[in-house]
Amino acid sequence: MSKALVVYYSYSNSTKNLAESIALLTEGDIRELIPEKPYSFSYNGATKEVRNEIERGYCPKLVSGNEPKNNYEYIFIGTPNWFKSFAPPILSFLRSVDLSDKIIIPFCTHGGGGFGQIETNIFKECPNSKLISGFDTTSDFHDTQVETWLDNIGLLA
Ligand SMILES: Cc1cc2nc3c(=O)[nH]c(=O)nc-3n(C[C@H](O)[C@H](O)[C@H](O)COP(=O)(O)O)c2cc1C
Repeated sequence: MSKALVVYYSYSNSTKNLAESIALLTEGDIRELIPEKPYSFSYNGATKEVRNEIERGYCPKLVSGNEPKNNYEYIFIGTPNWFKSFAPPILSFLRSVDLSDKIIIPFCTHGGGGFGQIETNIFKECPNSKLISGFDTTSDFHDTQVETWLDNIGLLA
């Protein structure tokens, strides 16, 4: 199997923790998507900013994470659930790389809303990729849950 790549955006580190667990358990590489302009650290400020960006399909400029992905067959894509969808840096990533021959595995952390529209919206952006069953959790997860999921989809190293 080609090595997996774990790409993620995280605002307050929950998705980052999950991404690190996935990378460790798959022996994959990991890349963080970093927007040029970080989101406001005040929750209310970030909320207004983000809602507006999601509504207009805004793609923030990334300073890291969207380099070519040619050597990987499996791409894990991780995001917090923001207003039932993925965070805008994910849209920037999906629109800047060609993932048509890749197998995409979504994962997210959330405050109770699960994936919401995240998987559907990733599929809309990547109609020619294969999407396989993802993993969603609140920030309170254990590595054993991640391990079980990876084992089920055949990607546990
Ligand atoms: C702007 C914003 C919008 C959010 N919208 C939702 C939502 O619609 N549904 C939900 O379950 N959680 C929502 N959350 C909670 C986050 O998904 C949750 O805290 C997540 O674990 C944060 O991941 P992170 O630490 O990687 O940024 C929202 C959080 C923020 C900051």
